[in-house]
Amino acid sequence: MAVAIFGRFAFLLWLTGVSVAVNYFEAEELGPCPHVLPTPDVTLKQLEGKWHLSVAVLDAAKENLEENSVCVTGEVFVHNSTHMKQIWDMYTPHHQEFPVGTVELAMESVRPGVWAVQTPLGSQITGILFGYDLDLAIAVFCGWQKGRQVHLFTAAATREGSLTPSLRLKMSSILLDNGYNPSTTKLIVWSKC
Ligand SMILES: *[C@@H]1O[C@H](CO)[C@@H](O)[C@H](O)[C@H]1NC(C)=O
Repeated sequence: MAVAIFGRFAFLLWLTGVSVAVNYFEAEELGPCPHVLPTPDVTLKQLEGKWHLSVAVLDAAKENLEENSVCVTGEVFVHNSTHMKQIWDMYTPHHQEFPVGTVELAMESVRPGVWAVQTPLGSQITGILFGYDLDLAIAVFCGWQKGRQVHLFTAAATREGSLTPSLRLKMSSILLDNGYNPSTTKLIVWSKC
């Protein structure tokens, strides 16, 4: 069980540098990077502080919904007007004092809403913020595979740990507006973190 959860996270946060996950991405044919409209007017100050990872969207052949029992919380630290750092900790809900994994991402603004993300592996991926509200931020992360930009995952982070029905509704409408198709995506949901 614990291994399965870890596998999922390694997959999701390929950025952790777990080689198993890297192999997965090499083996798997990933879909194209979604054409989303970047949110241009969000300042770094608005992203600063603590977030909870609430929903991850992955390309999948079959519609699928999964609840995950490991929680992921993050914090955004702003260096200056163009650079920020995100630190994400994973932990089991009853042992918040002991993170079971940490990922640090250095991010540099390329243009409003678009980020060059330095992974711990040393590779660079692209992050595009396309949904923002005071309590919600949605970004897509794309990398390169065989010379084309592919969809690694889309992540929705919330300020609050519980995913309320109104937040879920807001998220789905942003995803649908940006062309996400529920029948070809897999959702991983953290509703009780
Ligand atoms: C912002 O911070 C980054 C990383 O600390 C640094 O490399 C960059 O030169 C800084 N940019 C400005 C405009 O100060």
